[in-house]
Amino acid sequence: MSDCMGTTVVFPAPLVALAACILATSGALPVPAEEKATEQTPPLAVDFLPAQLLTDAEPAGLGPAPPAPEVNQLSASRVALGRKLFFDPLLSADRSMSCASCHHPRHGFANPQARAVGIKNRLGTRNTPTVLNRAYGKIFFWDGRSASLEAQALKPIENRVELGSSVPEVIQRLQESPEYRQQFETAYPGGVTPTNLARALASFQRVLVSADSRVDRFQAGQASSLSTSQKQGLWLFESRGRCWKCHSGSNYSDESFHNTGVSWGKEPIDLGRFQVTADDADRGRFKTPTLRDVGLTAPYMHDGSMQTLEEVVAFYNRGGGKNRQLDERIQPLGLNKQEEQFLVEFLKALQGATNWTAQAPAGKP
Ligand code: HEC
Ligand code: HEC
Repeated sequence: MSDCMGTTVVFPAPLVALAACILATSGALPVPAEEKATEQTPPLAVDFLPAQLLTDAEPAGLGPAPPAPEVNQLSASRVALGRKLFFDPLLSADRSMSCASCHHPRHGFANPQARAVGIKNRLGTRNTPTVLNRAYGKIFFWDGRSASLEAQALKPIENRVELGSSVPEVIQRLQESPEYRQQFETAYPGGVTPTNLARALASFQRVLVSADSRVDRFQAGQASSLSTSQKQGLWLFESRGRCWKCHSGSNYSDESFHNTGVSWGKEPIDLGRFQVTADDADRGRFKTPTLRDVGLTAPYMHDGSMQTLEEVVAFYNRGGGKNRQLDERIQPLGLNKQEEQFLVEFLKALQGATNWTAQAPAGKP
């Protein structure tokens, strides 16, 4: 075991060292016995790492991430453990799928299915969002029902239409594995516990960063990194398109909830944020998603009801989905076809420098 395992480092400055540690130790991570390359589950990719972490202390264009919680500072051993868990079907009742089956790296850590499909082909109600840049998130799920990555992490394990297992069952399986026991003990005081399971999963997700897109480079002064259409799109995004009013900040999300009228009145009725707050004003409000790597994460919206970015932009151009609680920022935009296309081109330029598709393991998600 390398001597960097188990040391606690502060995010983000020592990310270079952290990533180097993970690289150095990753070759030694044996693939868990349970893990097989099935149709649903990609094999553990030991070399799978966000490349920009090797060069950037501060992901270009994103700025520093909010610090990880005091009790769960990032360390190489924590990230490596979280990565192994994220790709391990041991977390599902019938050992058929992992977190990555839905949050698939080849699809920007999202999924091409409109609505998530869990174990035994059980159909969920919502589209799988990306887990990229969730280190920059303030609130989690489309309806914001979790307040942190740690609070979120165990929910898919127990969700009947996702991994369909239980935390005690997963803890027992992990305890039966000498290798996991050792890795947990190295990473966290207390070893294999539900809290540490959640913390490890959160730690891995905190290093999944999409940054240094062509838009970031343009904004940093490299005028030639955007085409003329993409520049027009950027300008529309920040002016007549009104997009910036919600997709704001370096991660293109205000981390807040809005009613844009997507699938309003259509079955299955999903009231979004209202399900958490029971506040009438929250009917039909969903969390603004990041737009980084959005070219990889089709289909779009909380229910995956839009197949393409063209469809999304046309939706905004006509003023969203009419309903009496439509957000006042959503209005008909009066863009012509060419201007719609400029916006689409701009959105595609938000792809980060890391080529997840090339790095991701083969196999169906
Ligand atoms: C069956 C597919 C599926 C599996 C398996 C799955 N997820 Fe998800 N994930 C989803 C869906 C769908 C949502 C959105 C649900 C909602 O908002 O109600 C989601 C939401 C999330 C979010 C919130 C993202 C945000 O923007 O707020 C995180 C983080 C996350 N999942 C991590 C995980 C982890 C960690 C695992 C494994 C322990 C996992 N997921 C397993 C489908 C899945
Ligand atoms: C009022 C706030 C608001 C404005 C203005 C806004 N958006 Fe959104 N955007 C959202 C919300 C909320 C969602 C999720 C809606 C849902 O799923 O029901 C979303 C979803 C999206 C998605 C889908 C992303 C995904 O991963 O599914 C894209 C792409 C997008 N918006 C682009 C734009 C563009 C381009 C503009 C400007 C033309 C714009 N948005 C204006 C709030 C807004």
